[in-house]
Amino acid sequence: MKKLLLASVLAASLCAAGLFANGGGEKLDIGLAMPETHVERWQKDGASLKADAEAKGYVAEVTYGDADQSKQNQQIEDFITKGAKLLIIGSVNEGVGSVVADAAKEDIEVIAYDRLITGSGDYDYYITFDNFKVGQFQGQGIVDALGLAKATDTKYITLFAGSPTDNNANFFFDGAMSVLTPFIEKGTLKVVGPYPKTSADKANFTKIATENWRADVAKARMENLLNNDAKDVVLDAVLAPNDTLARAIIEACSTDGKYDTTAKLPVVTGQDGEIASVKYIRDGKQAMTVFKDTRSLASAAIELADAILKGKEPSIKGARLDTSSYNTGKKVVKSYLLEPVMVTKDNYVEVFLASGYYKAEDLK
Ligand code: BGC
Repeated sequence: MKKLLLASVLAASLCAAGLFANGGGEKLDIGLAMPETHVERWQKDGASLKADAEAKGYVAEVTYGDADQSKQNQQIEDFITKGAKLLIIGSVNEGVGSVVADAAKEDIEVIAYDRLITGSGDYDYYITFDNFKVGQFQGQGIVDALGLAKATDTKYITLFAGSPTDNNANFFFDGAMSVLTPFIEKGTLKVVGPYPKTSADKANFTKIATENWRADVAKARMENLLNNDAKDVVLDAVLAPNDTLARAIIEACSTDGKYDTTAKLPVVTGQDGEIASVKYIRDGKQAMTVFKDTRSLASAAIELADAILKGKEPSIKGARLDTSSYNTGKKVVKSYLLEPVMVTKDNYVEVFLASGYYKAEDLK
């Protein structure tokens, strides 16, 4: 009995020390908290991050928050309990701040992954793609596809943005508008429906934003536009912030007599290079996407994590250090930006197949 008691006291204290914390007896080094799975990329991010962390000898675990911040907070608290030394977080929204504060109290390093964690001063690092450039590519995709530089008549566009709780949505939109605004001012492009000039116009931005990047929300809004603001015009383009929403918008248009063949569809932008959208680009249904190679982001994030954990100065291959653009509202965080790639029908084969991101049979 005494022995048994001793053993359990010992086990309890080892647990408290985080040594047996991972259930299996292995300690956790890096917790990887991804926001959702309804947008395809995050499963790739999660899988690459875990594989890259393990290749460097770390014990890593990945979770998905189902676009539910309280669920993700619980997952992150579990990582902390399991003794994680570093957390890589692709957050749902800024409600993640409370667990980031908990991590800071335990001296656990946090890297904001892809999405800035706003409203928090409790972490130092952010790694992402150049989000403003993603938006510029979307704007450029529309300018090119509509031939706006030489257009003499008026083309009609309607605007969509990503989740109002995702800081990236502001950057994508502002990047796109930086390219489109001169044409709107010249009168060659006319906005149908709500028109925020930038994401700072919150009253109008909220009207075009898509809660939690949900396809059903974008589809319903597009249907509504087709029956109201866009009833009496033929839209030439729709600014869509990512592939999931682009396809929902295209689906809504396809059921309207004005756009019911591929040739009649408006020019629709996207982002992420989701396989279904790559097929749409090949078939002429979606005009473009922006490829952000999740494998590169994941390996850069693990390089950064490795440098931080080893107390070395990070020097991340293929990433540009930006120490001024990303302000959480509490501080400017050190940001590492990777380069996105613009993709249209002209280069999709080269970009997706040559890189090995997709195989030829994936596109069948
Ligand atoms: C990411 C995009 C993604 C979107 C929806 C953004 O934060 O940067 O790549 O499409 O979230 O998941």
